[in-house]
Amino acid sequence: MTATPRFISLYTLTVAAGLSFALIAPTGSHAGQRVAKGTESRPDALYHNYCSVCHGDRGDGRSRAQNALNPPPRDFTNAGELTREAMVTIITHGKPGTAMVGWQTQLSAAEIESVTDYIRKTFMIVALDPKLQRGKSLYAQNCIACHGPRGQGSDQPIGGSLPARNLASPQARAELTRERMISSVTIGRPGTAMAGFGSRLPATDIEAVVDYVRAALMVPQTEISGTDAHAGRRADSRTPAPAAAKVTQTGAQQPMPNGLKGDAVAGGRFYMANCATCHGAKGDGKGPRAYFINPKPRIFTDPAFTSSFNRPAIFAATSVGRLGTEMPAWNKVLSDQQIANVTEFVFQSFVLPGQKQGKTK
Ligand code: HEC
Ligand code: HEC
Ligand code: HEC
Repeated sequence: MTATPRFISLYTLTVAAGLSFALIAPTGSHAGQRVAKGTESRPDALYHNYCSVCHGDRGDGRSRAQNALNPPPRDFTNAGELTREAMVTIITHGKPGTAMVGWQTQLSAAEIESVTDYIRKTFMIVALDPKLQRGKSLYAQNCIACHGPRGQGSDQPIGGSLPARNLASPQARAELTRERMISSVTIGRPGTAMAGFGSRLPATDIEAVVDYVRAALMVPQTEISGTDAHAGRRADSRTPAPAAAKVTQTGAQQPMPNGLKGDAVAGGRFYMANCATCHGAKGDGKGPRAYFINPKPRIFTDPAFTSSFNRPAIFAATSVGRLGTEMPAWNKVLSDQQIANVTEFVFQSFVLPGQKQGKTK
């Protein structure tokens, strides 16, 4: 799977070394390197820190949350009709009736605009450009059989010769200039299964398909280093917006995904045994392990959390963990039902009271 390298590494860590290792792993090298208050974070770091857990590393909605949420997270690569303005509004205020919560307590207006532009130019570029759309359908008709839906190529030699090239690899990105690609697609690669398309496609179509491959398939995976991946995080330093109103408006009462019903009592037991060591028995982020950890565990009682985490969001965050932090991916060790239980406990114990408090303020 090319889409989720970050999760796979966390998975490997958690599974190969056992959960207990994940729990006592030493603090990462990027520990504590957050940007200073008031500095705008890099939009790609924001996206990969806050959004990719649901919308996928490639913006195509292919994430672990995909099957857990209804409706599933938006696939931006197929969202040509989405205006910039509508996106900014939804990212700010959330989308009622879905797991998409508003981010205004966590991101500044400028950050919301910059992450919007990042999504548009990185993931929506094909959907927004008719020429690239044309390239996409040409690719589907002429190239996909050998190079695969993501340009990943094949492992098997074709016709006794070379396998189809992985166009998405870092090596291909470094080696294949636009000119070379146009030439190879036009005249083919002698002695391989890659025949020339010069006689089958007009030059404009060859350019369109090459430009599509370059824009959509030859994009780097997550290029976020540990430091940058956490640059976006400073929720604690923000003055929270009126929490209660916003959560109600963005679907605080959204049910658990997959029709699950959480058992808060069982979840509470699990929480005290496994989560409280970091997040604290009172959800205040003051568990005994918190002292040693950077970034610090989430404070569940903070308005930045209570205003933006409903059941599906807690469920998703607990399932997939948080890369580059010590928050494990619990779906490696817990069933969906167990995750639903602990989610229900966190929701009822910390999020709901937090909202009521917000209301009376
Ligand atoms: C907990 C999962 C989750 C997270 C995290 C998340 N989203 Fe969403 N997002 C969704 C879901 C679910 C939808 C609704 C899809 C639909 O309505 O079909 C959505 C919808 C959207 C939409 C509107 C799409 C539309 O067609 O209406 C935008 C824009 C968006 N998200 C951007 C973001 C950004 C930017 C971030 C990070 C700051 C983010 N999302 C984080 C789950 C999530
Ligand atoms: C029948 C299978 C097949 C089809 C169909 C095919 N390719 Fe290839 N392609 C290959 C193979 C095999 C190679 C590896 C050749 C090599 O390494 O010299 C390759 C290599 C390439 C390269 C790298 C060439 C270089 O200069 O190293 C590009 C770019 C490429 N293909 C693009 C495309 C595009 C675009 C299409 C559709 C218009 C397409 N291919 C259709 C099999 C195929
Ligand atoms: C080893 C310490 C540790 C343990 C154990 C732990 N967490 Fe976390 N948790 C963290 C850290 C660190 C973060 C991320 C803070 C950040 O991103 O700045 C986090 C974040 C979260 C978040 C918010 C995700 C987000 O996007 O900010 C949720 C929800 C969560 N944890 C739930 C749980 C639950 C439920 C358990 C028990 C099943 C648990 N955690 C156990 C350390 C831990």
